[in-house]
Amino acid sequence: MKKPVILCVDDEIVILTSLRDQLIYHLGNDYTIEIAESGEEALEALGEFLEEGIEVPLIITDQIMPGMKGDEMLIKIHSRYPHALKIFLTGQADANAVGNAVNRANLYRYISKPWDEADLRLTVTKALYSYSQEKQLSEQNELLEKLYAQARQEIAERKTRDQLIIQEKMASLGMLTAGIAHEIKNPLNFINSFAALSVDLVRELDEITASQKTNISPDAYAKASQIMNDLKFNATSIHDEGKRADSIIRSMLLHSHGTTGHIRETDMNDLLGEAVNLAYYSMRSKDAYFDINIDTDYDPSTEMMKIVPQDISRVFVNLINNAYYAMREKKEKIGPGYTPTMDVITENLRDSMKIRIRDNGVGISRKILPIIFDPFVTTKTEGERTGLGLSISYDIIVRGHQGTIEVDTKEGEYAEFIISLPKTELRQAQTPGQAQTGTGSDTENRELIRYSEALPKMRT
Ligand SMILES: Nc1ncnc2c1ncn2[C@@H]1O[C@H](COP(=O)(O)OP(=O)(O)OP(=O)(O)O)[C@@H](O)[C@H]1O
Ligand SMILES: [Mg+2]
Repeated sequence: MKKPVILCVDDEIVILTSLRDQLIYHLGNDYTIEIAESGEEALEALGEFLEEGIEVPLIITDQIMPGMKGDEMLIKIHSRYPHALKIFLTGQADANAVGNAVNRANLYRYISKPWDEADLRLTVTKALYSYSQEKQLSEQNELLEKLYAQARQEIAERKTRDQLIIQEKMASLGMLTAGIAHEIKNPLNFINSFAALSVDLVRELDEITASQKTNISPDAYAKASQIMNDLKFNATSIHDEGKRADSIIRSMLLHSHGTTGHIRETDMNDLLGEAVNLAYYSMRSKDAYFDINIDTDYDPSTEMMKIVPQDISRVFVNLINNAYYAMREKKEKIGPGYTPTMDVITENLRDSMKIRIRDNGVGISRKILPIIFDPFVTTKTEGERTGLGLSISYDIIVRGHQGTIEVDTKEGEYAEFIISLPKTELRQAQTPGQAQTGTGSDTENRELIRYSEALPKMRT
């Protein structure tokens, strides 16, 4: 590799050679010392060095020269090679020229003629040291930037890979769920129907036995009644639990089918308002004594959005039902001092629509918070709860509508679900269940056929 060059520029050849000789003496081992007798010649030489890949860390120049002046030349050099250091070596540099070179060419030092050799050596050595430091630093910076860009790309690639893996897993889980649910549904229909029939049969047997009461001994009659009661209890239990299993299977099927409707232009405030009413009246019909405050704040600037309204409405109803449940639980704990309150808020943002549903109920415990959107997570013991509400909601918002759903909560105080739906054009959601079974309605038909096959034979 060729040695780096120190370029000296002066129109007086005596000065130029003396400068060159001193520099060769002190730095000749590590640098080539080149000279130019004018600014124009210096620029030309510099261009050639750089073209050959020779580094020029330092230029030492006089100011007053015929043709191009020293400061003018340094400014030109600086615009093309900003890292090269520049030193003025002149007996008559005016303040203007020095100021100009400092401001526009990042002048490193100014040494007056006649110079002291030791001073020149020190200044030049320092300049070269500072140049090599800067160079090292910028090389390290460049390397860091490269590494950073590489790391960013790797993270992005890993994210995409992870997403793909999750999507594939979800797709196969969806197929598996749909398959299993279908298979279980058939025998379950038998169980449920036969259990219902057994309840009727025991009732009938009970009536017959009662009509024969006088023909059998009281002891035998009491024993028979006892057995019939047990049978009735057993059959009813099988029937109730079977119904519960049926509802779980239905939810699993819905879960794996994903979307249930088509994309339509929808007024989100209206849709949310309907869901609030629907959930409210359904709650009141189950529990007429439980009442709550509902504070709504719908953003009037909300525009129509292209979404699947049935699905989004299902999410709202899920969230509102959860909120009711949490507030009822708190009311049972605290009693009259507590006012159940739910806030329902919409916000029309530039690129998205935000919906917040907040309740001041029992809040979500830390234990289940990290898995809250996983399927079958439930703390409820009541009836037909499946623990699928939030997991279905997550699917609808995130996979079906490319949005986000977040939760904020403080145990014992509140829970808030925040949905964000992007305003970008929505693709018709493709879901794992559909990928396997074709359209949703095909699957419904298949279910119906199997259901009718499973009806028990009535006794005649
Ligand atoms: N607003 C809320 N306040 C407190 N806990 C909540 C709230 N929403 C959800 N949870 C907790 O998250 C669990 C899971 O909710 P999710 O809606 O998925 O299922 P679920 O309500 O239990 O059953 P399902 O919705 O299938 O009837 C609930 O059992 C409850 O413990
Ligand atoms: Mg729920």
